[in-house]
Amino acid sequence: MNRTHWSTKLGFILATAGSAIGLGNIWRFPYLAGSYGGGSFLLMYVLCAVGLGYFLLLAKLAFGRAAQTNIVDGFQVVAKKDHKTVSSWWGCFGGMLAMLNILLVSSVYVVVAGWTLSYVILGIRNLFGLGETVSAQTFSGLTGSFSEQLLWGTLSIAVTAAILVRGVKKGIEKLSLILMPALFVLLILMAICILFLPNSEKGLAFLFTPNWEMMGFTKHGFDFNIFSDLFLTAMGQAFYSLSLGMGVMFIYGSYLSDKANLKNSTKWVIVLDTLVAIMAGMIVLPAVFAFDLAPTEGPTLSFISLPMVFSKITGGSVLMLMFFMSLFVAALTSLISIYEAGVSLLMDKLSLSRTKAVLSLVLINFVIVGIVLASYTGQLNWTIAGQNLFSALDILTGSYTMLAFVLFTTVFIGWVVPNVIIRNVSEGGKKISNTFFNKYMLFTLRFTAPIILIILFASVFFK
Ligand code: PFF
Repeated sequence: MNRTHWSTKLGFILATAGSAIGLGNIWRFPYLAGSYGGGSFLLMYVLCAVGLGYFLLLAKLAFGRAAQTNIVDGFQVVAKKDHKTVSSWWGCFGGMLAMLNILLVSSVYVVVAGWTLSYVILGIRNLFGLGETVSAQTFSGLTGSFSEQLLWGTLSIAVTAAILVRGVKKGIEKLSLILMPALFVLLILMAICILFLPNSEKGLAFLFTPNWEMMGFTKHGFDFNIFSDLFLTAMGQAFYSLSLGMGVMFIYGSYLSDKANLKNSTKWVIVLDTLVAIMAGMIVLPAVFAFDLAPTEGPTLSFISLPMVFSKITGGSVLMLMFFMSLFVAALTSLISIYEAGVSLLMDKLSLSRTKAVLSLVLINFVIVGIVLASYTGQLNWTIAGQNLFSALDILTGSYTMLAFVLFTTVFIGWVVPNVIIRNVSEGGKKISNTFFNKYMLFTLRFTAPIILIILFASVFFK
């Protein structure tokens, strides 16, 4: 069967950037930066994204492009290109781990996307003077209600499914070509408006000036614990933000033809993804500083602190709507990519039509979201290690199973099929040249990335 391919280079870049840019950039990045010293976190994040993230992303996309098939068969297909045979267990294990992550991560993602959608509707009501002021109670009311969250979550799933049944070119690519530029415009406009808030320069200084103490360089010498905590958090955020961890980039790469210049496109994805995180920081942090609120609030920074600021400033209701619209658009294009990884696997392995694959995944996901929400709101007494399922799955996937998948695929790429991957990356050059780029990439895939991933595991395990 002929594999679908992206129609244009721009379509591929924006769809891939759409996957990367999500809740991780606009929701998570500002509150992590707020808690880890602003500029210190930004600096460390950029170093992680450029020094390691770029090469892993490039390798995963190349792995998919070399395979031109689903993740389960991909391992053997690519090994064959290197005249090697590998056990089918690689594909079985990789496929199962990918599917587990797809189902679990999407369930958590759907819940937060649902909150965002509910805030968009609140924003629209506020614009017409119909809603109440958004406060801490609004958020606790929403997150305490099973039915409300299920409704918003279901709507988010429905929108995602409606796009996915249209396919890769007419669904994902077309939507990304419209939504991603719209997202950039919204973010730029907001960042400019926020500049006019009193004391906004304080927030900007916080975001752009590294706080050396927070990087471990204290008055009493170098504190390794502070440094490693910051480094591992930034690294984890880079993996999450670049959508590494469930075969999404593999699948997006498998829809890419041999002609595309992968290095260049990947560079664009990294640049756009990082720019969006920075812009989100430039919106959230100065707003919080302008009203003397703490930047260290954590996950509620965007859902409680920011709406409080917006309710106090002129034009705030417009800004609030713009902010949550951006957050929803970002979440949607990422959710689409997570689903697509599952859909393509179901289509290939169970010979389902695209519509049937989408519907099956929607159904399974809906049930899991229902269970997760029931546990989160206390309807159901299911917990893992004392945590409700929402928090438990977030920790389980973020700290263990996604990293396990990245480690597994990186080891395969770096140790079993490095030649195919390096050749695929530097398309055009038929033989592998001994450039610094290739050497660095190989070293990253073989040593740096696996070692850092193992340290990341250990650091969460022994915490
Ligand atoms: N990159 C997305 C974000 O920053 O929100 C999250 C994500 C999407 C993670 C797809 C992993 C993935 F496979």
